[in-house]
Parts: sequence; C-alpha cells; structure tokens
Amino acid sequence: MKAWVCDRVGAIDHCHQVEVSTPSPKSHQILIEVHAAALNFPDVLKVLGKHQLSMTPPFILGQEGSGVVKEVGSSVVGFKPGDRVMFLCLSSLGALADFIAIDAHQVTKIPDSMSFELACCLPLTFGTAYLACIVHANIRASDEILILGAAGSLGLASMTLAKQIGCRVVCAVSSVERARFCRSRGADEVVIYEGAIETLEA
Ligand SMILES: NC(=O)c1ccc[n+]([C@@H]2O[C@H](COP(=O)([O-])OP(=O)(O)OC[C@H]3O[C@@H](n4cnc5c(N)ncnc54)[C@H](OP(=O)(O)O)[C@@H]3O)[C@@H](O)[C@H]2O)c1
Repeated sequence: MKAWVCDRVGAIDHCHQVEVSTPSPKSHQILIEVHAAALNFPDVLKVLGKHQLSMTPPFILGQEGSGVVKEVGSSVVGFKPGDRVMFLCLSSLGALADFIAIDAHQVTKIPDSMSFELACCLPLTFGTAYLACIVHANIRASDEILILGAAGSLGLASMTLAKQIGCRVVCAVSSVERARFCRSRGADEVVIYEGAIETLEA
C-alpha cells in the first residue's frame, strides 16, 4: 500500500509517499481502508521533533481519518466489513495510508449521510475541544468564553461547540483576515491581539 512516511525527525521534507506492507489486524483490531485523513498542528510538531510525545522514525503520518472496515479481529464485537467509520490514533499515528490496522476502541461508526471528508477531521480536533470545553471547563449557556488562536482548528472547533451550547464567544486572533473569518463562523466579538494592546495603552 501507499503511505506518507516520516523517515527522519527534524524537517517536513523528510516526509515521502512510499510503498509499505499492508498491516494485518490483531485480534482486538480493525483493518480500515482509509478514504480521508486530516493533518493537524500536532502532526507538524511530531515531524519536527517538538511534540511532547516523541516519535521513533520511520512512522506514518496522520492521527485521524475515516474509511470503510475491511476486516475485524477475532475478539472485536460491534463492527463488520463494510461499516463506514472514523478513527483516532491515540499514542501512534498512521492515518495517511491506504489502510490502517487500529484498536477497535479507537473506531466509531459514522452515519451514511456524513461524508468521509467531514468525518476524518472530527475525532482529534473536536475530541480535544470537547475535552477542554465540556469535560474540564464545563461551559454552560450562561458563560462568556474567550478563545485564543480562535481561527486555528482547535479554536474553531471550540467556538463551534460553545455556540452550540449557547455561550457568548469572544475570539482573539492576530489579523484582520482571521477576525473576519471568526465573525463569519459565528463569533459574538473578536479581538485582534495588537489592536487590543494599543487600545489598552491609549
Ligand atoms: N488540532 C488538534 O486536534 C489538537 C489536539 C491536541 C492539541 N493541540 C494543540 O493545540 C494547539 C493549537 O493547535 P491547532 O491544531 O488549533 O493549530 P492551528 O490550526 O495551526 O492554529 C493555531 C493558532 O495558534 C496561533 N498561533 C500563535 N503562534 C503560532 C505559531 N508560532 N505557529 C502557528 N500558530 C500560532 C495562530 O492564531 P493567531 O495567529 O490568530 O494567534 C493559529 O491560528 C497546538 O499547540 C496543538 O499542538 C491540537
């Protein structure tokens, strides 16, 4: 199969599309034919060797994706070949490949109405935003929340969740372009960092 592999940590140009062996699922795993995969900032950090979890090269890029179940391990229940799914690679990567063998508890079925392109970018980014905003911060409809770096993927996911809950959302960003983007996605108020500092100093 084809896969995007990082063969040396330190620079993005150490990543290449190469032929590797198609993995075989262990008894607790599912083999998925990958239809779409997302790249996130943590992928970049891992390639550069700047992420808190260091990776030993060579490794396949991509921490989240979506696709169709091809094979299920002998102890896996609840999945069958043909199921449409999304997945999150927890301690390892591997989504930027034709196939991935992954532990069943990291896989979730998706509805027929959801595209693979949409599903592939939900588990990591929205999962992290959910953990931060709902599990840890326990935000409520009556809350007003401030999101830094709001035009990035985690910021945007956090804003989407917070708006769904009914919060008033203030977004902080570094440029007018990003401010416009946040407004277009539902921000109630936008602060541009430098502008805010000038206002404070005036
Ligand atoms: N994406 C995920 O699923 C995920 C999961 C776990 C942890 N994280 C962590 O959450 C943080 C944000 O990730 P993200 O995926 O949202 O990243 P992103 O899409 O690249 O957005 C990052 C935002 O941070 C701001 N920023 C400030 N200094 C920056 C710099 N030196 N380089 C790039 N952006 C900078 C930028 O906004 P302004 O220019 O407006 O300030 C940018 O929009 C990272 O530390 C990442 O490791 C992300």
